[in-house]
Amino acid sequence: MVQNVAAFLRELEPEDFYLLSGLEHGMRFSEWVHREKLPKYSRLTREEVDYRLDRCMRHELIQRKTIQYEGYQLTFEGYDALALRSFAERETIEGVGAPLGVGKESDVYEAMSFQPLALKFHREGYTNFREVRRERDYTSNHHHVSWLYTARKAAEREYEALETLYPDVSVPRPVDQNRHALVMEKLDGAELSRARLESAQVVGVMDLIFEELANAYRAGYVHADMSEYNIFVDESGITVFDWPQAVPTDHENSEELLKRDVSNLVDYFNRKYPAETPKTVDTALLAAALVDDTYETVRTYV
Ligand SMILES: Nc1ncnc2c1ncn2[C@@H]1O[C@H](COP(=O)(O)OP(=O)(O)OP(=O)(O)O)[C@@H](O)[C@H]1O
Ligand SMILES: [Mg+2]
Repeated sequence: MVQNVAAFLRELEPEDFYLLSGLEHGMRFSEWVHREKLPKYSRLTREEVDYRLDRCMRHELIQRKTIQYEGYQLTFEGYDALALRSFAERETIEGVGAPLGVGKESDVYEAMSFQPLALKFHREGYTNFREVRRERDYTSNHHHVSWLYTARKAAEREYEALETLYPDVSVPRPVDQNRHALVMEKLDGAELSRARLESAQVVGVMDLIFEELANAYRAGYVHADMSEYNIFVDESGITVFDWPQAVPTDHENSEELLKRDVSNLVDYFNRKYPAETPKTVDTALLAAALVDDTYETVRTYV
């Protein structure tokens, strides 16, 4: 879908973006922005707003509701268009290519520049935004938390983690961030879940992964969503990606989360490579070694 956005980004006119930005602004205050407010928010005349609403509806960049009052909100495509335009203006990317991974929480695409890049759109608030809102209502004074906010926060957190970790930890090089989107180095290789390691490589790959978790801890972060789906493997080694939920090491649950990360990985290797994985790895001991920065090899912690 975002490929279409990229294609008609050229078709869109500056005034279309005034309307989209106006809606973005209005969505800070209400889920559906009152039609009456749009001329002010978008600095367009009433007639211009009518014309732009029509165009943006046709492109599915916005949606309308008519119950109670006539209101509009951005669709994810509309929010994507705003982020893409910013990246294009900053000359971060020139175009969007094939999907690299499409999931519940994000869409990742290849992006064109003078080098191949990856463009990740966060979708967090969109998929479960009702639950997020319920949670937030207890903890904040804001009664309205839009999915724009949740998705943008996730992108900001992920970008911040990458900026801190790169290059001391093997993570994708961060390139740029805007709204709910970030641009980073495109990784080669395949996810660990899809790789078929040879027997002689298994312990070595486990060690490479745990060394990166130790490096990340030293740099101040626990990944907190560690699995075979968030590690890329190729001939040159491993790369750990997908960092939006990373927690700082001074967070009260950080050691708990680190232990869970370690267990997830040890369980995975035990399942997939039972013959090569050391039996009875003590995950608490291993996690403690990552914290103390004394990790040697997984064989030590049995
Ligand atoms: N920098 C990158 N280079 C190449 N491919 C990538 C890159 N980042 C992500 N991908 C691909 O996109 C997929 C989803 O990315 P990521 O794990 O960061 O998002 P996610 O939020 O976990 O998505 P999901 O909801 O599917 O779990 C990855 O599994 C991977 O295949
Ligand atoms: Mg992932």
